[in-house]
Amino acid sequence: MTLTRVHTDQKLVSQVESQLPAPSDRAVKIRIAHLSATYQQARGYLSVIEDLSLDIYEREFLCIVGESGCGKTTLLNIVAGLIAPASGEVHMDGQPIRAPGPERAMVFQEDAVFPWYTVRQNLEYGLKIARLSQARRDEIVDRYLRLVGLEEFQHAYPRELSGGMRKRVDVARAMALDPQVLLMDEPFAALDVLTKERLQVEFLNLWSTARMTVLFVTHDLEEALFLADRVVVMSSRPGRIRRIVNVPFPRPRSAELKTEPAFQELRRELTHELGS
Ligand SMILES: Nc1ncnc2c1ncn2[C@@H]1O[C@H](COP(=O)(O)OP(=O)(O)O)[C@@H](O)[C@H]1O
Ligand SMILES: [Mg+2]
Repeated sequence: MTLTRVHTDQKLVSQVESQLPAPSDRAVKIRIAHLSATYQQARGYLSVIEDLSLDIYEREFLCIVGESGCGKTTLLNIVAGLIAPASGEVHMDGQPIRAPGPERAMVFQEDAVFPWYTVRQNLEYGLKIARLSQARRDEIVDRYLRLVGLEEFQHAYPRELSGGMRKRVDVARAMALDPQVLLMDEPFAALDVLTKERLQVEFLNLWSTARMTVLFVTHDLEEALFLADRVVVMSSRPGRIRRIVNVPFPRPRSAELKTEPAFQELRRELTHELGS
């Protein structure tokens, strides 16, 4: 089978694109205000995030980059409602986030697929929990199997799939829930470079048709610049915002973008910033 066989309705993509106002003209979807996070460790408290404020707009693709240990996962977990901040608040649509909810789906670096379920059962699981009818479940699962090109593997178990295919299942699983916000924690970091690049393109295409708000964490600047509307560069721990970059490259984007001089120049500039 061809692993790149991801369906994109280019007409639909450009339709969606042209109807959307610039990110900063849209409503604020998630407001992070004066957020601080600490962990209690053997030798006392460790300050991980310090006074971080950030607005994420409706249907924006926002990437957060920062070196390992700067608090990226902690930040995502707070937005997910999995852990509580030491101080500050996170609001979604004006409501404080205090617990996980179905309107926020998470994709982690490690696959969150159940090894004892088939691809199809994995995709169906969350929809079952959401109490969708069997007919509706079948319809959504079929659609996502087609979108990520895994129809032929729907009855396979995760162990029978490559890492890239498992990640496709994982991303499809999260998107099939039709969340308002997708929280992604270095989802492609464990993949080899070629698979990673392919999945980035596929994921952008998928996102272009669904257009939910995405908060995507990575330590890979190239990945961030390729995917995002805006890139937030974090300082090393305790995490603060060092810089916010409006990514100037138009959509739809293809892999060739990474070889363009303007892309490489911006990447170089930010690499310098990230390292300083
Ligand atoms: N549950 C925890 N208990 C104590 N310290 C933690 C815990 N989780 C993370 N840390 C520490 O907090 C810092 C930030 O971690 P994390 O948010 O995972 O960073 P990142 O995702 O950017 O690599 C690290 O120094 C890490 O060791
Ligand atoms: Mg992390």
